[in-house]
Amino acid sequence: MRRQGASRGAAQVVVVGVDTRGMGLIRECLGTEAVLPASSVPYAQAVDAVQSQRPNVVITGFDGDFEEAVRLGPLLQAQVQGIRLVAMSQQNEPERIRAAMRAGYREYVVLPADGSQLRQAVRESDLSPVGAEDQGQLISVVGSKGGVGTTLVACNLAAELSPVQRVCVVDLDFSMGDVAAFLDLQPKSSIHDLMASVTRLDSRMLSGSVSVHPSKVHVLAQPMELFTDEAVAGEKVLQVLTVVADTYQYAVADCGCRIDEATLTTTAVSDLILLVCNPDVPSVKNAWRRLQLMERQGTDKGTVRLVVNKWRKGLELSLADIERSLGVPVAATIAWDEETCMSAINGGRILREIDKRSAAVRDISAMVSLATEGVLRVEAPGSEKKAFGWLFK
Ligand SMILES: Nc1ncnc2c1ncn2[C@@H]1O[C@H](COP(=O)(O)OP(=O)(O)OP(=O)(O)O)[C@@H](O)[C@H]1O
Ligand SMILES: [Mg+2]
Repeated sequence: MRRQGASRGAAQVVVVGVDTRGMGLIRECLGTEAVLPASSVPYAQAVDAVQSQRPNVVITGFDGDFEEAVRLGPLLQAQVQGIRLVAMSQQNEPERIRAAMRAGYREYVVLPADGSQLRQAVRESDLSPVGAEDQGQLISVVGSKGGVGTTLVACNLAAELSPVQRVCVVDLDFSMGDVAAFLDLQPKSSIHDLMASVTRLDSRMLSGSVSVHPSKVHVLAQPMELFTDEAVAGEKVLQVLTVVADTYQYAVADCGCRIDEATLTTTAVSDLILLVCNPDVPSVKNAWRRLQLMERQGTDKGTVRLVVNKWRKGLELSLADIERSLGVPVAATIAWDEETCMSAINGGRILREIDKRSAAVRDISAMVSLATEGVLRVEAPGSEKKAFGWLFK
């Protein structure tokens, strides 16, 4: 995730595609906190205005011409390094919010309700360009189906990074999240608590809310008690993740296998998505369905890596079969290693503490380069047309 530098002085703002009423709301909200324009510029003049004024913040109206507002995102971002884009709307629909996020808008505000969020964005806006090297990386670990090893991979990848990096695992499985149980932690506060007070959330508050495993992995956990039918707002998840990425060098999100607001929002803003599957037909089929969904959602293919967990020789499916079926290469395999995995989980420990020479530790350790080498473009092997044909026969 991108992070912004600290504020020094009043930020300069350009407003695009916002009507008179909207301009009034912006003025009411920001007052003297920013250098505001007298009026909004039309969408067609946005790039010119940003080029000539080089503002710190652009507030784009999403209610006038939604498509144009989305299209402008990357164009405006390309004009000024570190520019902060804010989407403004009267509509709070998740699909619109995700589209805005994908287009590079860091905030999505509905005024006047989100006034404090807009003020915060302007205060934190980038008055000195911040390089990509300063940004905490967000890695999503997504399971193709239940039980494929998503939590094990998230915790142990974080543990491999933790000796030299500040790492936090964020448990985003809002139904049955069990990262804390995996690491035998008793969290005093949870991601639910942070989402409830998200307007006050900062690095300090986050640091007081995480649990720390002896491996130095920090965990933002789900609460012990289970909740039912709770809709989780993508915006709040995004706000929490932003603070995590501001605080740690790596945020590893255990997304489980559920398709919900929390995980869709998280994958939309991730630097790297590890899609975990097992070498069996149902799991590979679901990996294919997930890849299709990601494609429909506009996820950058270059950020997705396929990880085959519980891998062993002599299975009916070969790695070549899996690659041919999915149309993407296998970026990593993790060996089937039941003994080490079960001892680790039941003892609340990481795999390395059980047996640092085990095959699973060797493989997860090798995955560190996937996280640290940044985002590599991977071309799919073979013909896309053939993808999955044989599995669906
Ligand atoms: N490489 C492996 N070798 C052997 N067993 C493994 C391996 N990886 C995971 N397991 C086992 O698979 C089971 C499920 O692991 P885990 O809970 O991490 O999966 P998950 O995808 O997070 O499941 P859920 O859908 O319940 O969240 C555990 O019993 C774990 O020990
Ligand atoms: Mg899990």
